[in-house]
Amino acid sequence: MQDTLEHAGEIVPVPAAAIEGTSCTGGQYDAMYARSMDDPDAFWLEQAERLDWFKKPTKISGWSFDPVEIKWFEDGELNICHNALDRHVANGRGDQTALIFEPDSPEDPVRKFTYAEILENVIRMANTLKKMGVQRGDRVTVYMPMVPEGAFAMLACARIGAVHSVVFGGFSPDAIANRIEDCQSDYVICADEGLRGSKRVPLKANVDAALEKISVKAVLVIRHTGGDVAMTEGRDHWFHEYSEGVSTECPCEVMNAEDPLFILYTSGSTGKPKGVVHTTGGYSVWTETTFRYTFDYREGEVYWCTADIGWVTGHSYIVYGPLQAGGTALMFEGVPNYPAHDRFWQVVDKHKVNIFYTAPTAIRALMREGNDHVTKHDLSSLRVLGTVGEPINPEAWRWYHELVGHGEAPIVDTWWQTETGGHMITTLPGAHPMKPGSAGRPFFGIAPQLVDNDGTVLADESTGGAAEGNLCIIRSWPGQARTVYGDHERFIQTYFSTYRGKYFTGDGCRRDEDGYYWITGRVDDVINVSGHRMGTAEVESALVLHEKVAEAAVVGYPHDIKGQGIYCYVTLNAGVDADDALTKELRAWVRTEIGPIATPDHLHFTPGLPKTRSGKIMRRILRKIAENDYGSLGDTSTLADPSLVDGLIEGRLNR
Ligand code: WTA
Repeated sequence: MQDTLEHAGEIVPVPAAAIEGTSCTGGQYDAMYARSMDDPDAFWLEQAERLDWFKKPTKISGWSFDPVEIKWFEDGELNICHNALDRHVANGRGDQTALIFEPDSPEDPVRKFTYAEILENVIRMANTLKKMGVQRGDRVTVYMPMVPEGAFAMLACARIGAVHSVVFGGFSPDAIANRIEDCQSDYVICADEGLRGSKRVPLKANVDAALEKISVKAVLVIRHTGGDVAMTEGRDHWFHEYSEGVSTECPCEVMNAEDPLFILYTSGSTGKPKGVVHTTGGYSVWTETTFRYTFDYREGEVYWCTADIGWVTGHSYIVYGPLQAGGTALMFEGVPNYPAHDRFWQVVDKHKVNIFYTAPTAIRALMREGNDHVTKHDLSSLRVLGTVGEPINPEAWRWYHELVGHGEAPIVDTWWQTETGGHMITTLPGAHPMKPGSAGRPFFGIAPQLVDNDGTVLADESTGGAAEGNLCIIRSWPGQARTVYGDHERFIQTYFSTYRGKYFTGDGCRRDEDGYYWITGRVDDVINVSGHRMGTAEVESALVLHEKVAEAAVVGYPHDIKGQGIYCYVTLNAGVDADDALTKELRAWVRTEIGPIATPDHLHFTPGLPKTRSGKIMRRILRKIAENDYGSLGDTSTLADPSLVDGLIEGRLNR
């Protein structure tokens, strides 16, 4: 996935249609960006004023990266559920469609909800949670398929001041148990089953398996497929039964801007996944503002983000961003290739989607299936396209632009992270020419900086100029994560200690002369598989749990569709022989330990791993070998056993 020469450095001008009626032209962007830098408090107060506050903030920014303390709107009071629902109903939007649900199978009925209907559903769920015992500040684990009730569950928690921790529906019972335990969550909301490409996902059964290891006070089960599930007396409640007779009123809790809104677990370079904590005020303002400007959202448009609510993209850009902005969002339970490879485009046509937001991996996979799947549908409604999760290669960008966007729809390539809460670097549809493969320019209030490994500044917005280095952000922004749940020290260590006083993203990046940022990928031990972020350490710990495995080292390698694949070097215990059956067994093992997204692509059995004399695994070498790049292995003389490397190369060439 190299830049093809043909497209390298290409500049695609802002389409005329994107300028007309835009909320932000190039000139406006420059003025707003400058103001967000020169007078951030005035700028963010203005943005915050689009929302309702029970108490208007008088203090806007209050942060330091050394020592680390981050606060925004700290004396303000609000509730994000009020801003997503009640405010719109009160302002005459009650009858507007807020959510369109497209089920897994095109044969099944579409469900639509107005703002007033969502509010009604959320109040019912909020009161049901209260009946179950959930109180303000309690952590509630949400393990749901991509159905409206997943969004309602999140909003219901927010409404009563409970902190949701959504666990992606593809995670294993172990992963659920670890996450429940880490945030001491006493309550779980799940569905009986989920549906993906006609296959059933046993969500309740997975929760039951997780709860064999740990216990919770109550589980609320939402009936979706109607599949058979076991119910534990006294602990499990069917939502449709238990919610009977609850009050139809439930005022929003008054939350301080810095009260936690949610925890979302994400992978890092070391240890187990960490619970990233977002708070109420800054996250509300950040998701509303970024949604509005990045997609240049216009009244009445249908917006569709294909992410899952289990990831941050689903939190910010299926639920909180679009609803706070008063938009109409589509939610899709299924997969791009079921019943056929045209499913996405069929849905776009069916619902006349105007804004479509997906991941490069999906674009690459669909591109491979040929153009007919796209051209047989009328996609003329599409006005803005977006991508997220990983760098997009210019070839896929072109295809997306020309075929899906009929050569006219601007593409926003949004770079951001779980920790950033929302978009950080992206072009804006009516403001910026596009460069395929580059995320573009910083969003309002974002001050990126590139530094070398020693922390020397190479380039930022004040110096200008071209450079390549490690991407830091040197000022706080409202949507920034505030801590890691239960481990503030880890938060400081992970993000602010590599380059003291700066937020380090973990990404490598190039800035060109025009001030466009090109993300080059992670520079730490995190890999990005189909846009899913994964710590190599997590896969390694899963592998070594297997009785036959002595040691494992996991690295990423370039993969045509997934962006990166998972390459595992495995050393077996004495007396164990490697064969195809063991390969299969270990792949299945990792799937059950973590989830299908962590399935190894390559298992490479080796008698040993290349280590320094002090016993440190030389990952640099393992990465190069996995990439089939033997010319630049670098210095191997510090290895305890340099001869291992030849064996590894031979092993690599044989597959
Ligand atoms: C990568 C997903 C290039 C990056 C929202 C980041 C990207 C990690 C882009 C965060 C993009 C995300 N171009 N790389 N447009 N968007 N990334 O936390 O490596 O799941 O650090 O958040 O994805 O992944 P996360």
